[in-house]
Amino acid sequence: MVSDKELKQKWFDFFQKKGFKKIQGYSIIPENDTGVLFTTAGMHPLVPFLLGKKHPQGNKIVDIQRCFRTSDIDEVGDNSHLTCFEMLGCWTLGECDKQKMINLSFEFFTKELGIDKSKVAVSVFAGDDNAPRDEVSANAWKKCGIKEVWFLPKENNWWSISGGEGPCGPDTEMFLIKDKPKCSKICSPACDCGRYVEFWNDVFMEFIVNSPGEKPIKLNQPNIDTGMGLERTLMVINGYNSVYEIGCLKKALNLIKTNSQTVNERASRIIVDHIRATTFILGDEKGVTPSNVGQGYILRRLIRRSVNYARDLHLDEDVFAKLVDLYVDEYKEYYPVLNEKRQFIKEELFKEIQKFTKAIEGGHKEFEKVIAGIIRHKEFAEKNGEKVELSLSGKAAFRLYDTFGFPFELTKEMAKQKGFTVDEEGFKEEFKHHQEISRTATVGTFKGGLADDSYQTIKYHTACHLLLAGLRKLNPDINQKGSNLTPERLRFDFNFPQKMQPDQIAFVENFVNDVIKKDIPVVMKEMSLEEAKNSGAVGVFENKYGEKVKVYTIGDVSKEICGGPHVQKTGELGHFKIIKEESSSAGVRRIKAILE
Ligand code: ALA
Repeated sequence: MVSDKELKQKWFDFFQKKGFKKIQGYSIIPENDTGVLFTTAGMHPLVPFLLGKKHPQGNKIVDIQRCFRTSDIDEVGDNSHLTCFEMLGCWTLGECDKQKMINLSFEFFTKELGIDKSKVAVSVFAGDDNAPRDEVSANAWKKCGIKEVWFLPKENNWWSISGGEGPCGPDTEMFLIKDKPKCSKICSPACDCGRYVEFWNDVFMEFIVNSPGEKPIKLNQPNIDTGMGLERTLMVINGYNSVYEIGCLKKALNLIKTNSQTVNERASRIIVDHIRATTFILGDEKGVTPSNVGQGYILRRLIRRSVNYARDLHLDEDVFAKLVDLYVDEYKEYYPVLNEKRQFIKEELFKEIQKFTKAIEGGHKEFEKVIAGIIRHKEFAEKNGEKVELSLSGKAAFRLYDTFGFPFELTKEMAKQKGFTVDEEGFKEEFKHHQEISRTATVGTFKGGLADDSYQTIKYHTACHLLLAGLRKLNPDINQKGSNLTPERLRFDFNFPQKMQPDQIAFVENFVNDVIKKDIPVVMKEMSLEEAKNSGAVGVFENKYGEKVKVYTIGDVSKEICGGPHVQKTGELGHFKIIKEESSSAGVRRIKAILE
């Protein structure tokens, strides 16, 4: 048996002996906007060097990279899928000697990992209009004594970053042949019958795709990018049935099992995976926290999904803290930042758990109510010979999202457990509709289920304008010093020399609620900055604005230069309440307020 730590050690020792320089793995959050939310492979952060930039450690490097793939979230819980995993990687920059790399790969897996060559099959690129059939790699493998060498097409043996852009090329993949007969005459490593399990991939990065859909062209500097999934490899070489038999994942699973009153393997595995990913994302040097956008939204999904499964298992919440400690202790040697952020990880995780727990009761009740309603309707309709599908409307799913903080995917999953489908198109429509209400210029983006601003946040945005207007009635010299909005509250900083008195707070609150009651339209007009200033519009951070600006006017109450989005009419806001007034810094006060 090889442990995870041993495999990592072997990896570094072997490649360092062969002249590769060890580097620290990178952040799990990509450095630049590369079109993907997370680092999905070891080569990802190295793109500039794969494109010709000189790496300070030279042209042969080796590392371990923590990766995260959103595409696998729904598969997690089976034997082999994980959202987050570690990739053992090494690269030759500006050098693409296939024969040499294949020899190194062969030596590592036979001598260091003790894999019998007769148990290994490999695949190489069969060739197409863009690149030739890879005879060089096929011959190299044959010389090593590998019997099963398969030529496979682009779908199997061409590697590129998801999205298709960037450096890419033909690859050669290595598979362990399991003790299992071929499922058919054409059974090959491309088959998912389980006979061939991939453990390693050498990519010959000789091409680049400059923009999606374009033909790959020759890269000035060819490279080799090789990556071995740590968990998958340990499963293969140790003959495990699942990745959850690996060291720390096994420990984490045991922790759940000893703390839970219900046995549910899949649910336990999901928590193990998701909290590990959560630990890596929150414990990243980039410090992403749960939110409704981008990486924050994925993180929110992971945490909320874990909380839901923990409820099913009757798990006490402190198991989450124990899991974080377990993972930080296991990985701090490789990623020291995790240890520095241990407290932060727990705090942010528990903040999100609390937020969700608060919303969850209401959300679950709402969900059950809707489901029961549809079932009643179906029973009634069927008596009259009508057919009714068990489907949750987009409106209902949106309400669960917007009011109760249920990520759409969670609603879908809960619905599925009850035998229901969810109208995804309808949900998107509803989402868009709410954004149109606010006339936001940016239409809702649905990047793999990602939602942008929630309607609730937009309401808080408009509430900020009214709050400023109210404060300026109190004292016309007040200006905005900053703000921060979430779907749960607004935070607003402004200049004011002392603590606000209760009657001043009441005055501002009443002012805002009066404007809300009057249901005044919010009107947007684009104009030049000059015109805006002349019209008496209030603006913050003026030098940041471009030529044309948007001015949002609310009757004779408020006129502000602002990018939006906003609600259409103040009546949409409900009831405004100031819940806290405190000092922010010298001469600056901070208000926290909610809409009920
Ligand atoms: N970048 C290659 C992969 O992800 C090695 O498989």
